Amino acid sequence: MEKKSFPIGIFDSGVGGLSVLRAIVDIMPQESVVYVADQAHVPYGPRSLEEVKGFSLGITEFLLKQQVKLIVVACNTASAAALRYLRSLFPYVPFVGMEPAVKPATEQTRSGVVGVLATEATFQGELYASVLERFAHGVKVLQHTCPGLVDLIEKGLIYDDRTRRILEDVLFPMLKQGIDTIVLGCTHYPFVIPVIKSIVGEGIKVIDPAPAVARQVRRVLELCGLYKEDPSQGLVTYYTTGEITAFEGVIQSLIGTSVKAYPLFWQDGRLTERLRIGP
Ligand code: DGL
Repeated sequence: MEKKSFPIGIFDSGVGGLSVLRAIVDIMPQESVVYVADQAHVPYGPRSLEEVKGFSLGITEFLLKQQVKLIVVACNTASAAALRYLRSLFPYVPFVGMEPAVKPATEQTRSGVVGVLATEATFQGELYASVLERFAHGVKVLQHTCPGLVDLIEKGLIYDDRTRRILEDVLFPMLKQGIDTIVLGCTHYPFVIPVIKSIVGEGIKVIDPAPAVARQVRRVLELCGLYKEDPSQGLVTYYTTGEITAFEGVIQSLIGTSVKAYPLFWQDGRLTERLRIGP
């Protein structure tokens, strides 16, 4: 098989990366994808960068065994923890990662105040510090975590009262301080855009980075001569280290696709499709 027909690998701690997958399938329906959700360890946000780095390595090794041609780290937290490390470990593998979209936010803001929502680990990483250093000139950037939000999204509880309360607690103080633009610095958060909009109103811009990341994936594939030109529909294979039926149900509720998912197991820092019991 020609390398162009190999799949793209995408991973996240859970269902957040589906927001990126959706954008990729939108513009490149002919590409096949292997999606890995590490739901055994979700949420990544409160964990140490070192720990998330280890998970990211295990998932990358698994994806490379599936002969993926490019890997999308569809998780801001994993990108903060491991993107540089993975690139140095696998210099011949094209990686596309996530970084909070502070650049477009600072270009678009009129009030000069933007809000960034992301996980603790993302805010701690060097990547976020460098994004601020590069782009946040003359603009006030307010940042906030949303504790508990990822867990609710993992359960598909988008319109739950608890989801709304977490977002209100974070967004009302930001609004008071004059934000006119919100950056979604966690791939789970685009799924709650309707709730965010109902809180902040239509006048506030909400930046979902997924479409820009999908375009970047296409650019990198073209640049590497790996873009699949054959228009036949690609296949998406879903794996989770968590509970299969729950995962399939949430995929259906978040992106409206009925799919079959496959289990993965962690064993000594590696991912396997079958659990080995005993020595
Ligand atoms: N979706 C992830 C991110 O973009 C991870 C969220 C989490 O697991 O805490 O940061």
